[in-house]
Amino acid sequence: MSIERKPVAYGDLRGWIDALREAGEIKEINAEVDWNVELGTIMRLAQGAGDGPALLFNNIKDYNAADSRCRRLFGCGLSSYKRLCMMLGLPHDTHRRELVKLGRDILSQRIPPKIVETGPVKENILKGDQVNLYDFPSPLWNRVDGGRYILTYAACITKDPVTNVVNVGIYRGMVASATEIPMLMWRAQHIGHHFTAWQQAGHKEMPIAFVIGWEPSMGFCAGQPVAKGTSEFDVMGAIRGAPVELVKCETVDLHVPASAEIVIEGMVGLDPESYVMEGPFAEFTGYVAGDKSPKPAARITCITHRNDPILRGSIEGSMPGSYSENAVCSSIMRAATAWNVLDRAGVPGIVDVWCPPVHAGINLLVSINQSYRGQAKQVANAIWGSSAAHVRYKHITVVDEDIDIHDYAAVDWAIAYRVNAGENDIVIMPATFGAGLDPSTRRRDRNAALFGTGKWNRMLIDATINLDYDPDPDLGGARFPPTVWPSEKDSKAVFDRWEELGFDKRPE
Ligand SMILES: Cc1cc2nc3c(=O)[nH]c(=O)nc-3n(C[C@H](O)[C@H](O)[C@H](O)COP(=O)(O)O)c2cc1C
Repeated sequence: MSIERKPVAYGDLRGWIDALREAGEIKEINAEVDWNVELGTIMRLAQGAGDGPALLFNNIKDYNAADSRCRRLFGCGLSSYKRLCMMLGLPHDTHRRELVKLGRDILSQRIPPKIVETGPVKENILKGDQVNLYDFPSPLWNRVDGGRYILTYAACITKDPVTNVVNVGIYRGMVASATEIPMLMWRAQHIGHHFTAWQQAGHKEMPIAFVIGWEPSMGFCAGQPVAKGTSEFDVMGAIRGAPVELVKCETVDLHVPASAEIVIEGMVGLDPESYVMEGPFAEFTGYVAGDKSPKPAARITCITHRNDPILRGSIEGSMPGSYSENAVCSSIMRAATAWNVLDRAGVPGIVDVWCPPVHAGINLLVSINQSYRGQAKQVANAIWGSSAAHVRYKHITVVDEDIDIHDYAAVDWAIAYRVNAGENDIVIMPATFGAGLDPSTRRRDRNAALFGTGKWNRMLIDATINLDYDPDPDLGGARFPPTVWPSEKDSKAVFDRWEELGFDKRPE
């Protein structure tokens, strides 16, 4: 790798906010803002297409009294590529292609965490009657949401009861009462594996801790598919170049970052009888999704928090012109994961892999240096056969290496002229596992309670030059004619006269 990474340990959320202030990357909103729809609307409108600011709300209606337990909310920390580079300790203009390559490597790096006795997160410890989730300014993010969501960027910590391997993941969670948080989680997610393992071990409840607000590497790792059996804390350590310091929870046998803003401890009911109504929610697809239905819920046993804690939240749902943190991080890490899958499967000639951020990894772009017929189909088979394809990679477009997959126009041009639907360039893989949140799937087929997963008909667009065509002797054995682009020699001759011809000086 040619780009040098200098890992940065920001210390906590406050250290990250200080760094963002210094870099001019944060907008602090001091005017009073209502947690009820207004805050979420501001975030969605200010988000931008990978270039909007981070936001710190300092004055939230109903939570701005001197004795309010929690007065501030921070969001959009990683909704920009520049801030992603800051988190990774990279030059701020590092190309997205390089971020993908680096992302491939980061997932396999480890620095294990360090257990410490105590930390700022223990400055306030609330148990019994003191536990009241309404003390925190969880927004009604969107008018269409089924309730106020306190978990939108929290790291949910669980442990496998047999192997003791810890998982850290982001799963949405709604405030259903002062002490209950129902969550959306799928059986195929790592938290779902733990859920099943606790059930099979005969337990009625699973211990859980929700960590809200810490360094950016926490949300980055928790929201991306770190391999099963690996604790995200180890990868977070590698990103920041130093171990994450963890303290023991008060009421569950789990560990959490010692300088986190807020930790909510609880027990998730495993029996469907204990489920609590949750949803709907404005989802990552950019649509309202996840029907109102009974879901596994955490019964809160304790809250610990720093003095004057900052609630960390994120607006979900990516649309043209407004990319969520999930979308920006997924564009890098879902591409990196797919590339690793292709490598492990032994598919040769992979040149570049990319997931444009507007859909958070649903359409995967791959460019290849083809050396034999059917190579694009091998790409699609390898990706769809992997568990990484859960909720991702519905459509795969494969192009030749001359097509820049970071350029929508280039990909569209390849689809226009290198795809022939009657020559097996469009391949549909019907009725695979899929996303329960995608409205293009019939409602019945999105029912995870009935089927365990959603249903996707996946599609390969093979936009490579078809090697099944016969070489053309009139074209010197090539299968496709040359493009109209001038040769390097002819271009140079013209550019040498560029200014003489009356054009502006050609940029180097
Ligand atoms: C902001 C954000 C919200 C997310 N919400 C959910 C959710 O509600 N349910 C879910 O299953 N996955 C959700 N995800 C995706 C998971 O966090 C992601 O798939 C991650 O890999 C899960 O961790 P795991 O691989 O350890 O299971 C969300 C991701 C982000 C970044």
